[in-house]
Amino acid sequence: MQFDHIPHPAPVPSATRQQAIADPGFGKVFSDHMVSIDWSEGEGWHSATLGPREPLTLDPACAVLHYAQEIFEGMKAYRQQDGSLALFRPEQNAQRFNRSAQRMAMPELPEDLFIEAVRQLVGADRDWFPTVEGGALYLRPFMFASEAFLGVRPAKQYKFLVIASPVGNYFKSGVPAVSIWVSRNFTRAAPGGTGFAKTGGNYAASLVPQAEATEHGCDQVVFLDAVDKKWIEELGGMNLFFAMDDGSVVTPPLTGTILPGITRDSLIQLIREEGLKLREEPYSIDQWRADAATGKLLETMACGTAAVVTPVGRVDGPDGSFEIGSGGPGQLTTKLREKLVGIQQGRVADTHGWVMSLD
Ligand SMILES: Cc1ncc(COP(=O)(O)O)c(C=O)c1O
Repeated sequence: MQFDHIPHPAPVPSATRQQAIADPGFGKVFSDHMVSIDWSEGEGWHSATLGPREPLTLDPACAVLHYAQEIFEGMKAYRQQDGSLALFRPEQNAQRFNRSAQRMAMPELPEDLFIEAVRQLVGADRDWFPTVEGGALYLRPFMFASEAFLGVRPAKQYKFLVIASPVGNYFKSGVPAVSIWVSRNFTRAAPGGTGFAKTGGNYAASLVPQAEATEHGCDQVVFLDAVDKKWIEELGGMNLFFAMDDGSVVTPPLTGTILPGITRDSLIQLIREEGLKLREEPYSIDQWRADAATGKLLETMACGTAAVVTPVGRVDGPDGSFEIGSGGPGQLTTKLREKLVGIQQGRVADTHGWVMSLD
């Protein structure tokens, strides 16, 4: 598909941009351009455009505003040692996007079109790459039902867009351990629901439990399963790994209620290559507490695109609190983090073919 290029009439002045990319924080600063592709029942995907980033005009009856037919992805372009830019496993984001689309009764986007859209945007906005150490260009592909119609059925028109946001290092200094609140009042996803899909409603539903975590002085919320209310699932935006003293590492299995993280999948491979025994197995909150108390559990790691690999230092909840290991980053967490970040930034050999150069 050919992309129409619409020149930007008034890009952000260079001095303002330089200031913005020096300390961008997360998700607050946006680049000059966006990609837009439309879908309609008769025409399929059409009107691919790379143009100025601008507000959208939506009919008040636009289906997404009423029934939340929406999906998204989160990925980053990374600066390589030679100054070029690269994506990390973008085909995985494209495939997950389509699994989300299927679940939400939306049209799938061809994988190569998804990647080309991201490529076009990074090409146009490479001057927005942050200058801060550890920064990246965060990319947000998303799709929503754009038809003006109030009946409850899959829409007949959709918009796919990609926007970009320069982001700083998730943590300003080093890698502090996060504290986790165990949600007993709320669950995130039930069997047969939308837990595995990256759809906005899952995140809307996580805001109140996240606020509960914050009220209790915790950084993040951990969700338990909706049926037995004892199996650990994931955090609001990160997957979990538990490292044991016998050289095994446990991570909750993909049963349809958690998001299949691309960082999770990458870590599974790296952990196995370390010669450790990786088990995708249910792990209960009671076992977590018991293993932390006996010292069987050495480390707990949270992982995702935003914070890469982060140690969990303390767990708090209605049933009391417990510390994990030393309360700070353990050996395996540090090793895996350095390896993964090294691969993403081109400092460690990419033996898996995970890095896609954009230059
Ligand atoms: C609910 C949830 N779990 C896990 C993840 C981690 O996924 P990934 O490693 O693909 O960023 C994310 C972030 O996208 C998420 O939103």
